[in-house]
Amino acid sequence: MTYEFDEKDLKEIEKIKAKYPEVLPATLPVLWLAQNKFGHVEPEVQRLVAHTLDLPEAHVHGVATFYTQYYKEKKGKYVLDVCTCLSCQLCGGYDILNYLEDKLGIKAGETTDDGMFSVEEVECLGACGYAPMLQVTNGKYVNNLTEEKVDKLIETLKEGNEPEYEQIRMPLRKVN
Ligand code: FES
Repeated sequence: MTYEFDEKDLKEIEKIKAKYPEVLPATLPVLWLAQNKFGHVEPEVQRLVAHTLDLPEAHVHGVATFYTQYYKEKKGKYVLDVCTCLSCQLCGGYDILNYLEDKLGIKAGETTDDGMFSVEEVECLGACGYAPMLQVTNGKYVNNLTEEKVDKLIETLKEGNEPEYEQIRMPLRKVN
């Protein structure tokens, strides 16, 4: 497959470049733009970004491979990042991961045959107070997971809907 940016993308890339005194910092947002367009930043896409920005391919590859948020291979429509770091692990993160794997019939790092879901095991996503939790495709967090909540999430996504935004309530601080 050949990857190309269209006129609209190129205009957007020019706008991104104009925000910085030099082109290097544009690497991150242009990789992001590419991922949103193609669904991943496989080596061919990294090459396209490098050529478009007139930067060395090794630089773009270095940036893309540094951040787990960039998908270096094709993924499912929804990528479910399940945190199994300490707080989530202590609150059943592996139970949730195993449940999700069994439910979807895949292991972490794999994608369902219909291309709908990829499951990833990830490090702390900074929401330890709401463990166990997962993130949907670099976007919404689904917190305080239970098996029922996982079932509901999968149904919601299969119907083509986004999971609800969960308001986080901070504990009230007692004022003397
Ligand atoms: Fe899971 Fe921090 S340990 S979000």
